[in-house]
Amino acid sequence: MTPQVLIVGAGGREHALARRLAASPSRPRLWAAPGNPGLLQFAAPAPVDPADHAALASWCRGAAIDLVVVGPEDPLIDGLADVLRDAGLAVFGPGAAGARLEGDKEHAKQVMAAAGVPTAGYVTCTGLDEALGRLDAAAFPLVVKACGAAQGKGVAVCADRDAARAHLERCFTEDAFGAAGRRVLLEECLTGPELSILAVTDGRDYGLLCPSRDHKRLGDGDTGPNTGGMGVVACADLLTHGLGRAVGEGVVAPVLDELRRRGVDYRGVLYVGLMLTPDGPRVLEFNCRFGDPETQAVLPLLRIDLLELLLAAARGGLGAWLAAQPPPGPGAPRDWPGAALTDWERAAAVVVAAGHGYPGAVRRGDAITLPPDREGAWIDQAGTAVRDGRLVTAGGRVLGVVGEGRDLRAALSAAYALLADVRFDGLIARRDIGGGIPLPRSEP
Ligand code: AMP
Ligand code: GLY
Repeated sequence: MTPQVLIVGAGGREHALARRLAASPSRPRLWAAPGNPGLLQFAAPAPVDPADHAALASWCRGAAIDLVVVGPEDPLIDGLADVLRDAGLAVFGPGAAGARLEGDKEHAKQVMAAAGVPTAGYVTCTGLDEALGRLDAAAFPLVVKACGAAQGKGVAVCADRDAARAHLERCFTEDAFGAAGRRVLLEECLTGPELSILAVTDGRDYGLLCPSRDHKRLGDGDTGPNTGGMGVVACADLLTHGLGRAVGEGVVAPVLDELRRRGVDYRGVLYVGLMLTPDGPRVLEFNCRFGDPETQAVLPLLRIDLLELLLAAARGGLGAWLAAQPPPGPGAPRDWPGAALTDWERAAAVVVAAGHGYPGAVRRGDAITLPPDREGAWIDQAGTAVRDGRLVTAGGRVLGVVGEGRDLRAALSAAYALLADVRFDGLIARRDIGGGIPLPRSEP
């Protein structure tokens, strides 16, 4: 029987999930709620409003959906996975209690403390005066974070008191992040390269996907404001000695144990945002879902059937499924839980093309011209829409250009070559994705 899979979401991550699921040997029928024009090349639109959780559950039952993959954090934080599971559906994505790891950064800190996970020191403030009072004794740079989920924009690394005050005022006085900014963490500033590691889990067992590095600042050379992510590389070059063990045994396993102790059944991705400090990896944040744009770079490197992996996590039994996979291929790190999931001899990169004004108020409606996909390079659409038969910009991060190859240099050059043929007014893209990572030599 053809498996029926619903993807909830409308971004580049969901386009990448659909692209990969469509390539599954079991040839699933894909549905999207709501989808975007790129994703809808692979999936049929589900005729239901994804914001209406009960209606979505009842549509899924009627359509005999075998698996629901929830892409973004907001519906997970709002408990969509709980409603779907209560209706007897298999869901890839945690319920509200698990998603709180992303929706409430203070809660995440408390779970980390209970689980013994290394992270930055912090204090929580609930009002402007209290926070300003704390600044007197603070060391700078200081990280000021809205406690709730704010699409990566609620965090400011503040060089001095004035910058910290400005971000605190955005949170408390200007209400720039709504309820997400009414509690704020003042956090110790860590230094070192950043890394994102996606752990796929059924709440008990887990496998780590290929590590990736997001470039969160808007401008070249890591300048300008934080964004949702402007580009990513994923490859074995990002591995450091002992990383798999440090993240597996030091972070993912103890957090899953602590969640189970609290009665939380966590099925989906535990996204670990790390800083590789001189004292070892420390956790910057958890997300409760696939990263965007990390996913667009990490999925092309899989050497297993993504549908099987997601089903094993959603239904339980991931440990047995992982144990039944062929052994890891050449170049695999030895201490990497789930090393067999990834082809370590390839690399991938994503360069995001954002619209005019991003990450502030973005202009919409600019006509987009896209080149066709090429061997080793393609486009995952995100903030796009079709108006009067034309593809136009409709969001901050408009699309991600993905390149894949036998090393990072090949992946980056494939992505940038395709990006050169993407056209829309106001296009913003970083020119230095992958900078700072030593590039392996490519043969001519
Ligand atoms: P978050 O949403 O918590 O990952 O924060 C977004 C970005 O802010 C991270 O990717 C880092 O670049 C930066 N950041 C967050 N926390 C810290 C920290 N404690 N020290 C230094 N930079 C941080
Ligand atoms: N790229 C950062 C995130 O997905 O949160």
